[in-house]
Amino acid sequence: MEEVPSLVRERFARLSAPRQAHVERVAALLKALTRHHRLASPEAAWLAGYGHDLFREESRESLLAEAARLGVAVGAEEREEPILLHGPVAAAWLKQAGLGSPEVWEAVAHHTTAGPRLGGLAKALFIADGVEPGRRYPGRERLYDLAFEDLEAAWCAVVEESARYLEGRGLRLHRKMAAARAECQR
Ligand SMILES: [Fe+2]
Ligand SMILES: [Fe+2]
Repeated sequence: MEEVPSLVRERFARLSAPRQAHVERVAALLKALTRHHRLASPEAAWLAGYGHDLFREESRESLLAEAARLGVAVGAEEREEPILLHGPVAAAWLKQAGLGSPEVWEAVAHHTTAGPRLGGLAKALFIADGVEPGRRYPGRERLYDLAFEDLEAAWCAVVEESARYLEGRGLRLHRKMAAARAECQR
């Protein structure tokens, strides 16, 4: 946590205790995955982990306002469900603050929807967010282990798990998640 920039630490401190605990588990897992698969520097992993949910507890109105302020694109899916903006808004906020790098912004921006042609850090963050030990669903442990054995296989499995979960609740898939899934099925 000492390695996290103070601006990020300040915003992190405003999150609820359960969210902070989730973020810490994701950051630790992302750092471990990043080291194991040699995906990025520990600093990049730490920043992506600690930065990914900084805007998760903002209201829908505030997310739309921040998106407008930071120039984040708002598509039909985001207008319908502004919570989807918490990743892209956090990425744009980090960028504006001069923190991170393109790989960190890509990872943070896509941690909810996934997306096509993502780099290793982005795939690892999406996986870490989905399989961290605080999540409860059948098969989570298997996906956690798979993340260390085979990152690509874990990525496609977590994308599939997320897509099926959303479809099971009668929700339309974000175009970026549909594209990630299609890429895995090729
Ligand atoms: Fe999130
Ligand atoms: Fe998260």
